[in-house]
Amino acid sequence: MKLPVQPVFSCDSFGGGTGAPSLLDAGEIIYLNRGSLAIGHALTLMDLEPGSEVLLPAYHCPAMVEPVVWAGFSPVFYRIHADTSADLEDLGNRIGPSSRVMLVPHYFGFPQEMGRIRAFCDRHGLLLIEDCAHAFFGECSGHPVGFHGDYAVGSAWKFFPVNEGACLVSSRHALPDKDLQSGGLFFELKSVLNTLEHSVEYGRLGMLNFPAKTLLGIKDWLWKVMKNLDEQGEDTGKEEYPASGFDGKRVRQRISLASKRIIESSSKSRIVERRRSNYLRLQSALECIDGGRPLFGALPEKVVPHVFPFLVDRLEAVFQRLKSAGVPVIRFGEYLWKDMERGTCPVSEEYSRRVFQFPCHQDLSGEDIDWMIGRIRAALGYGEVVE
Ligand SMILES: Cc1ncc(COP(=O)(O)O)c(C=O)c1O
Repeated sequence: MKLPVQPVFSCDSFGGGTGAPSLLDAGEIIYLNRGSLAIGHALTLMDLEPGSEVLLPAYHCPAMVEPVVWAGFSPVFYRIHADTSADLEDLGNRIGPSSRVMLVPHYFGFPQEMGRIRAFCDRHGLLLIEDCAHAFFGECSGHPVGFHGDYAVGSAWKFFPVNEGACLVSSRHALPDKDLQSGGLFFELKSVLNTLEHSVEYGRLGMLNFPAKTLLGIKDWLWKVMKNLDEQGEDTGKEEYPASGFDGKRVRQRISLASKRIIESSSKSRIVERRRSNYLRLQSALECIDGGRPLFGALPEKVVPHVFPFLVDRLEAVFQRLKSAGVPVIRFGEYLWKDMERGTCPVSEEYSRRVFQFPCHQDLSGEDIDWMIGRIRAALGYGEVVE
């Protein structure tokens, strides 16, 4: 069995119901291509001097740091507590005369206490980027996620069955969309075809699988032609993209029309309910087990998880076993920024190595989750997998 790591487009994706407060309720909104590009875009709107410092959590992925460096600012890393909340005391000690911005993520979908963080930023004259890449839905301090930040960033493709897409939201500042650029016809086409391809790969289109496969054959041919054209062009030489694929030239690029339409017409209540129920299934099967534990003790009401984070004891052995059993494992924060001083945050360094995440998205069924549970238990040394 091969399970999709991300949501998969199908007829089931659509329908009504809002499900829970979301980033879409938090303020003015523009749709962009990727969360990292939305962070870059937000930084360009802030009118900061070169060399300004941006406070980032020591537990991060390259996609959160690259836009800061691209914009000409310096990352300064702060500690997090074991419950993943920002360590405001440590932050206070790291603020200097050039500090201008703080970025705070809602790790794995579990919101931070934003009322407190907003007050901290106001006290220190910091602009706040609320990183909702893991938390498209949810509430903090009585408001939808994304409300407290000067700017909030969402990564739509982690929650909706699209292959790209992000939001930049603000309840405090205007978000002009007149300077946004279209990705062009090929980008639009590619977006539709990649979404379909993912769907066909997991057999989710029923009778439409065959015509979709034909379309995808055409796509492969088109790509080949375009690649040849690119290689003959002047300006399209091989770019050295950093680890996350961040490309600063695209910070103003709009989402594709197809992705936006899918996001708008997706059933939000299905996303919310199924993610929560899949998470709870994993939680109850894995909460009392030797060899690891869920990172969070419970799933509070209104939290809509991105993934199920699990703290593993014997990581190398377990990781190898999970991999050979075909269990999809995500490792957010596996690679910490190379210039971050060692010892900056022992919790982040530990989580970077030991926290594995398992998908719990809406397009996994209860049986899919049980299949994963069986293999996770086996990888932790709990007997043989029952087929
Ligand atoms: C916390 C966090 N912020 C921002 C991003 C960037 O989002 P995207 O992958 O849409 O560029 C990621 C990516 O995984 C992330 O995990």
